[in-house]
Amino acid sequence: MKDNPPLQEFLRECRARVEQALEHWLPSSHTLPERLHSAMRYATLGGGKRVRPVLVYAAGRALGGPVDRLDGPACAVELIHAYSLVHDDLPAMDDDDLRRGRPTCHKKFDEATAILAGDALQTLAFQVLCKDEGLQADAETRLQMIKALAVASGSRGMAGGQALDLEAEGRELDLAQLENLHIHKTGALIRASVQLGTLATPDADEELALKLDHYAKCIGLAFQVRDDILDVEGATEVLGKTQGKDQAQRKSTYPSLLGLQGAREAAGQLLADALASLAGMDEKADPLRWIANYIIGRNH
Ligand code: IPE
Ligand code: IPE
Ligand code: MG
Ligand code: MG
Ligand code: MG
Repeated sequence: MKDNPPLQEFLRECRARVEQALEHWLPSSHTLPERLHSAMRYATLGGGKRVRPVLVYAAGRALGGPVDRLDGPACAVELIHAYSLVHDDLPAMDDDDLRRGRPTCHKKFDEATAILAGDALQTLAFQVLCKDEGLQADAETRLQMIKALAVASGSRGMAGGQALDLEAEGRELDLAQLENLHIHKTGALIRASVQLGTLATPDADEELALKLDHYAKCIGLAFQVRDDILDVEGATEVLGKTQGKDQAQRKSTYPSLLGLQGAREAAGQLLADALASLAGMDEKADPLRWIANYIIGRNH
């Protein structure tokens, strides 16, 4: 993606904004209980591609909304994502030692602290949607945003997908089952990111919002397909997480079912579908187009 300076500039701008919002909302490590707040900050700050926040901003841009309304929603979805990673890495789940190039939260702190940090990051996300002033939204809009993020995070979204992922260890799923798993564990939050960007945009065009939602479903699934591919062919130093974990834990993945080439083709098809859903939209949708390409071409 080094060959796309406008994307790099867009990523830089969005990341700087969400970094500032996260810094604002996360209690300092000197606030009691210090160990819990230190763990929350450790898990959230200083790393991560911030893809979900970037999608909140890109959806708002595509619909012509004001950017300062998007910092709160971008921050909220990243807090949920950070929590999901802390719990995903726990010994009872994927049992990972490395995340974003550093020891995982439970390795750096301890398991109980990591569990509580995840819990508190999750509730902080909803606090942000309730209280963020930059959002300038009425109560009804805030409720819609809270609902979208809650559904995407819960048993019918990310947490449900994680449950399916654990149940599928050592079992061979068919493609429809695997797609369903990925749509929930990863797709749901990515879709919610675009929905939040839409909801934060006053008077968003309904037809465009539907196009964006279809786009989000495609790239949400593509994101996890690429994650599965990278688990096979990436390098630990570049990934910032241990390569080869899926096979070691007999996870159901796109490469395990379709082979690497089949998985790449599936990602390519999803990219094409995502881009097709934006056809006819003007250049304000370009960041969404760049991000779709970035998601399936990324190396970490
Ligand atoms: C990793 O997400 C977990 C998945 C849902 C595949 P990211 O690849 O977005 O992780 P960070 O936030 O950039 O570290
Ligand atoms: C995690 O999927 C999805 C989440 C909800 C966190 P993975 O278990 O494949 O994510 P990584 O590879 O550990 O980042
Ligand atoms: Mg996992
Ligand atoms: Mg994992
Ligand atoms: Mg993975």
